[in-house]
Amino acid sequence: KIHAQIGPSILNADLSRLAEESQKLLDAGADYIHLDVMDGTFVPNITFGHPLVKCLRKNIPNAFFETHMMVQEPEKWIKPTADAEVQLYTFHIEPCTDVPSICRKVQEAGMKVGLAIKPNTSVNTVVEYIDIADMILIMTVEPGFGGQKFLTDMMEKVRWLRSNYPSLDIEVDGGVGLDTIEQCAEAGANMIVSGTAVTGSTDPKSVITKLRETVKN
Ligand code: DX5
Ligand code: ZN
Repeated sequence: KIHAQIGPSILNADLSRLAEESQKLLDAGADYIHLDVMDGTFVPNITFGHPLVKCLRKNIPNAFFETHMMVQEPEKWIKPTADAEVQLYTFHIEPCTDVPSICRKVQEAGMKVGLAIKPNTSVNTVVEYIDIADMILIMTVEPGFGGQKFLTDMMEKVRWLRSNYPSLDIEVDGGVGLDTIEQCAEAGANMIVSGTAVTGSTDPKSVITKLRETVKN
């Protein structure tokens, strides 16, 4: 079990002040920071990679970091990411030919491993990996950008996973906020990524608190 519930995404925060923005979110009660790594190939956008995460870690020595690897070659970035003392390495299975081997390499590097699937990827594709992964991420938007509309149809995948794997860590990511958290909690998600709804708020602490209260119930 990964004991962390609310993990704001910094994608739409002021990336030129990532350390201050991240610290603000932690001070506002975030359990972890969700760092969106994009390579411009797997998704039509670029953000940052392990060099920036390493600098961020120097400024924030202990916080729980999850890197959401929206990259074509997730195996390539395991070692440099582990060097940044990232705790959770979540990668997309779509471009991979040997998911179990990548999972093992992530765990051998000392990180927990999450498997992410895009909206058009069937939840059946992750069933065979559930015993080796530490968490499953159900994307509730097409990856690449923050501030998109929540895809409510994805709750069917979360509900199906929760009913078949009661103790599995299930994360949702994309368009999650106070208006969509209820259905995420009802479906059984227990790890919540929220970007714009938190970083765009004048009171991130109250948003994070409300998200956590809803998930608990
Ligand atoms: C999208 C990212 C998400 C996104 C979440 O590709 O993986 O983490 O930043 O941001 P919101 O909550 O604004 O959709
Ligand atoms: Zn993400």
